[in-house]
Amino acid sequence: MRFSLLLSLTSLLSQTLASTTDEFDFVIIGGGNAGAVLANRLTENPDYKVLLLEAGPSDLDFPVTDIPFISPSLTPFTALDWNYTTVPQPGLAGRSIPFPRGHGLGGSSLVNYLIYTRGSKDDFDRYAEVSDDPGWSWDSMQHYFYKNENFTSPVEGADVLDRKVDVEIHSMTGMMPVSVSGSATPIDKRILNAAAELGEFKFTREMNGGDVLGLGWIQLTTDGPKRSSVASTYLGPKYRQRPNLQIIFGAQVSRVMQTGTENEEPAFRCVEYRLRLGGSLRYAAASKEVISSAGTIGTPQILLNSGIGDSKTLTELGIEPLVHLPDVGENLSDHPGVVNGWLVHPNTTYDDFARDPVTQAEEISKWAETGKGFLVNTISSHIAFMRLPDDNPLITTYGDSAAGPKSAHYEFLISNWLTVAPSPETGHYLGIGTLVVSPTSRGSVKLRSADPFAMPLIDPALLKTPYDHAVMCEAIKAAQRFVSASAWSDHVIGPANGLEHVHSDEDLDKYVAENAKTIFHPVGTASMSKRGEKTGVVDPDLKVKGVAGLRVVDASVLRAQEHFFLENGVDTSKRGDVTPRWSERPGKNNSWWRSGPE
Ligand SMILES: Cc1cc2nc3c(=O)[nH]c(=O)nc-3n(C[C@H](O)[C@H](O)[C@H](O)COP(=O)(O)OP(=O)(O)OC[C@H]3O[C@@H](n4cnc5c(N)ncnc54)[C@H](O)[C@@H]3O)c2cc1C
Ligand SMILES: *[C@@H]1O[C@H](CO)[C@@H](O)[C@H](O)[C@H]1NC(C)=O
Ligand SMILES: *[C@@H]1O[C@H](CO)[C@@H](O)[C@H](O)[C@H]1NC(C)=O
Ligand SMILES: *[C@@H]1O[C@H](CO)[C@@H](O)[C@H](O)[C@H]1NC(C)=O
Ligand SMILES: *[C@@H]1O[C@H](CO)[C@@H](O)[C@H](O)[C@H]1NC(C)=O
Ligand SMILES: *[C@@H]1O[C@H](CO)[C@@H](O)[C@H](O)[C@H]1NC(C)=O
Repeated sequence: MRFSLLLSLTSLLSQTLASTTDEFDFVIIGGGNAGAVLANRLTENPDYKVLLLEAGPSDLDFPVTDIPFISPSLTPFTALDWNYTTVPQPGLAGRSIPFPRGHGLGGSSLVNYLIYTRGSKDDFDRYAEVSDDPGWSWDSMQHYFYKNENFTSPVEGADVLDRKVDVEIHSMTGMMPVSVSGSATPIDKRILNAAAELGEFKFTREMNGGDVLGLGWIQLTTDGPKRSSVASTYLGPKYRQRPNLQIIFGAQVSRVMQTGTENEEPAFRCVEYRLRLGGSLRYAAASKEVISSAGTIGTPQILLNSGIGDSKTLTELGIEPLVHLPDVGENLSDHPGVVNGWLVHPNTTYDDFARDPVTQAEEISKWAETGKGFLVNTISSHIAFMRLPDDNPLITTYGDSAAGPKSAHYEFLISNWLTVAPSPETGHYLGIGTLVVSPTSRGSVKLRSADPFAMPLIDPALLKTPYDHAVMCEAIKAAQRFVSASAWSDHVIGPANGLEHVHSDEDLDKYVAENAKTIFHPVGTASMSKRGEKTGVVDPDLKVKGVAGLRVVDASVLRAQEHFFLENGVDTSKRGDVTPRWSERPGKNNSWWRSGPE
């Protein structure tokens, strides 16, 4: 079997590779969220020999990642980050911004903010529809949510669970510990009281049951006081030492290579990588499959480096086009976010921790010694998923950008501190992150040059469409309404961090463009479509279209909701690009700022 595969390599390639090629059944590129799960599941079968190539270091070299609350300090521009920066963003006043991606075993699950959201039923049912594969539907996915989740007691005790989640819909038999915040925060009661008082932000006990809407307790991937990443779970000690799994750290893959032709399709069963910066090139072959799990940036970069992409663009770059798949790297969709701050009276916020090394040292030793304190939490304990009202002029004019009625347009992350870096030198804050979660803007990942190791050109197109920008403005107005509840009256002093200068819609436009950033959820650069369909990059089984031996399994296959704007009730079949300029958009109402929040 192995011998015949080697024979099928082109003669030139087999000469080059003769001394350096190791052979496996599966070669997985990237040990992140997807790659680590695959490495675990495939090596359950003792007959499969699996190689996992991870560009970054071992998670075990960074025990600090265990502390949930410090996640915002793990990126950008650290030893665990790919250190990407975007191209200038027209929707962000022309700024180029950091674009963090986890670099190490565990991938972005090693550095992320731990917030556990399954997503909405509408979105999974939409995946099933666009891929013509019922296996992607919400109902079909339940089996996998159950296999993944081990819902565990939080540090503060199991008795709170019933109040905070619907235990019925959770699994206690999966691999990944998930819980609620383990330490009460000083604003928990105020948040719930404000929600009860206003009505607009309805409390929901459970956001992971298909209907995401409402305000409730965050669920997070923690195991007691510690982060659960895919490295600590799916590749925990028990699995990492399986004899049929080899993990190579510091192995950055440049491309996949054609090894032959099968049923008239080119087969790509060889991987080229370099061992650490400046190292010589190495090769690994897979008798069954190469699986790219390099993520929404890494996967399209590797495909394009390999000659799989738009033939014309590749030729222009000096890369030999081998498979014409024009959608590789297209349709990048990401969630923009703004961190909004309000100055508050109490000094019991976490801002002192964020700015003061002495407080940090104290809390970290408390966490290490007792497993207690607010470091067991993530940045927020409450989250809200909200829709614009059906009669909002944005919706009536342009249609609904969400996947369905139980899916959100925007999200809040409510924090007992201002989650910006660097932290303001003084003051105590209430922070509300506002995120646009059904964005219509689409960007791309492109190659900078024919150098396979050069940083790619990343354009997440944040707030590019006036629609997305307007939804962000609506979300911030909603946050202002939330803070205006009497539950906050003896707590909040007033808007801060730039928000205090916003007195008109024009001010708000400027504030949004100057403060929005990525909230780290890029998808769609190798999106799935129906078998046989020309658009998209992979079939519903995640095999690359028109190619043998190569699959993509990571967030790049997730295809964001397509949104077609209505103009006078007519589907223009163009995305947000056709909407009026910001100043003319519907839904503007200057008087709102003059009168202040009700
Ligand atoms: C700062 C931050 C905060 C986030 N917060 C949350 C949150 O709170 N909740 C949530 O649900 N999601 C969050 N996310 C998003 C979430 O982590 C990602 O959606 C998810 O990890 C994507 O999984 P993936 O397998 O596609 O990619 P990743 O987990 O990013 O894994 C890709 C892996 O491939 C490796 N790789 C890439 N290129 C190569 C190459 N050429 N050769 C070898 N290896 C390579 C990378 O080093 C990495 O290990 C956050 C992300 C970030 C960065
Ligand atoms: C990112 O930058 C940090 C800080 O300069 C550095 O330590 C790290 O090695 C860089 N990451 C990569 C992948 O080069
Ligand atoms: C789930 O977590 C509990 C601890 O809360 C642990 O005892 C149990 O073994 C875990 N289950 C699995 C399947 O890992
Ligand atoms: C916080 O405020 C309380 C009074 O509300 C005061 O006693 C305490 O010293 C303050 N702590 C700090 C660190 O400023
Ligand atoms: C992605 O975007 C391109 C245009 O940029 C479009 O032609 C294509 O059909 C889109 N859809 C998918 C699923 O990739
Ligand atoms: C603008 O908003 C204010 C306050 O919410 C409201 O009273 C007023 O009717 C609105 N005006 C228009 C034109 O929608």
